Amino acid sequence: MLLPSCIIIRPSFRITTTFYKPSSHWRHHIVPINHSRRLSVPTFINSASISTASSTTVEDHTPSVMAQDGSTPHHPLQVAKRLEKFKTTIFTQMSSLAIEHGAINLGQGFPNFDGPDFVKDVAIQAIKDGKNQYARGFGVPDLNSAIAARFHKDTGLTVDPEKEITVTSGCTEAIAATILGLINPGDEVIVFAPFYDSYEATLSMAGAKITCITLRPPDFSLPIEELKSKVSKNTRAILMNTPHNPTGKMFTREELGQIASLCIENDVLVFSDEVYDKLSFEMDHISIASLPGMYERTVTLNSLGKTFSLTGWKIGWAIAPTHLIWGVKQAHSYLTFATSTPMQYAAAAALRAPDSYYEELRKDYKAKKEILVEGLKSVGFNVYPSSGTYFVVVDHTPFGLPNDVAFCEYLIKEVGVVAIPTSVFYLDPSEGKNLVRFTFCKDEETLRNAVGRMKERLARK
Ligand SMILES: Cc1ncc(COP(=O)(O)O)c(C=O)c1O
Repeated sequence: MLLPSCIIIRPSFRITTTFYKPSSHWRHHIVPINHSRRLSVPTFINSASISTASSTTVEDHTPSVMAQDGSTPHHPLQVAKRLEKFKTTIFTQMSSLAIEHGAINLGQGFPNFDGPDFVKDVAIQAIKDGKNQYARGFGVPDLNSAIAARFHKDTGLTVDPEKEITVTSGCTEAIAATILGLINPGDEVIVFAPFYDSYEATLSMAGAKITCITLRPPDFSLPIEELKSKVSKNTRAILMNTPHNPTGKMFTREELGQIASLCIENDVLVFSDEVYDKLSFEMDHISIASLPGMYERTVTLNSLGKTFSLTGWKIGWAIAPTHLIWGVKQAHSYLTFATSTPMQYAAAAALRAPDSYYEELRKDYKAKKEILVEGLKSVGFNVYPSSGTYFVVVDHTPFGLPNDVAFCEYLIKEVGVVAIPTSVFYLDPSEGKNLVRFTFCKDEETLRNAVGRMKERLARK
């Protein structure tokens, strides 16, 4: 079809972020940039002008038409009700601000160094060998086998690579496929706050009823009595994460045993996100699926990104017994159907890495952790112990700012360092107002520079 002549340009947008005080919520505005004629006064569209569509989804916030006179007709942003409370993710916002202010980004958890050559070389070769068409929906056989072998090595469990594994586009899709494939509208799902931000949004897309239990500093241990009071025959699943983002907490065998008993007693499923399993420093990682009676009620979720510093590849997977993986596989079939073929071949090679790779990885990250943790202590933060992941959480209150968002704003603009306000990881944001998260997945010089800036420019009040 010919385009009507009045459609002349598709403007791109920049996102600006405003911190609204005293509430700890972030608001952002989408500012159209007209490349042919830059607007002298930017048009702000705030969240009040977002209208709710019954079924429409939007790829981005870009209106596709502009009148011939250059004016932009008013198109309220549209989003389905199930997503209207969610804003641009905090990670995107912070990474944009880091660029805008030339700040050192210790916010979003992606390494500023590259993944290993022995993995990248396999991807390049796979592309050259023509492995470029749709992969088998639930994973190329070589990767399914490699995942099963690694799971066996890590947990002692033997799973059928063809029947109990589904390869997805990152753990994010594995989480979504698990929730959409196994949770009905109205089902109750328990999450532990603070939690990775996709959990709430995806549970909301599935229409789940979220019940939240807060892990509290200093050790973020499991409040077992509270969990006991919340788990019932009405609970469909517990969605958990160990090692835990953002706190670095790792669930102990005792805590996992307590969760397991409650799940078995009440016939509850567990969705266990273990993307940081290889970044465990103070104790050994334990998969809850390996506890007696748990495999048959657990979906274990993982991905390649963190362990191999290849977060952009988005290769993930779910492991579960056949009666549970069926739902995951069905959802995956209609979400993405299959994920990148050449990267799957490379992922298989990655997972067959010798033990020395993982030992080296831990050693490197231990050194980075030491630089950041000791540095943050010397700046004057109260640093909470982190056993795993590449994150540490600190109490920022010695510096006199009213909340985590205000602190992060100050840190970016006045100090030149990015951290993540943790209030975004809670259902009730006020619970995170004293805490911010730093990542140490950066080269040592970057970590030292960030600490140097904080020492120089941050003063305790
Ligand atoms: C706890 C947790 N789960 C899942 C993910 C997403 O993993 P992927 O990049 O493989 O989708 C992240 C990424 O930061 C994470 O922190």
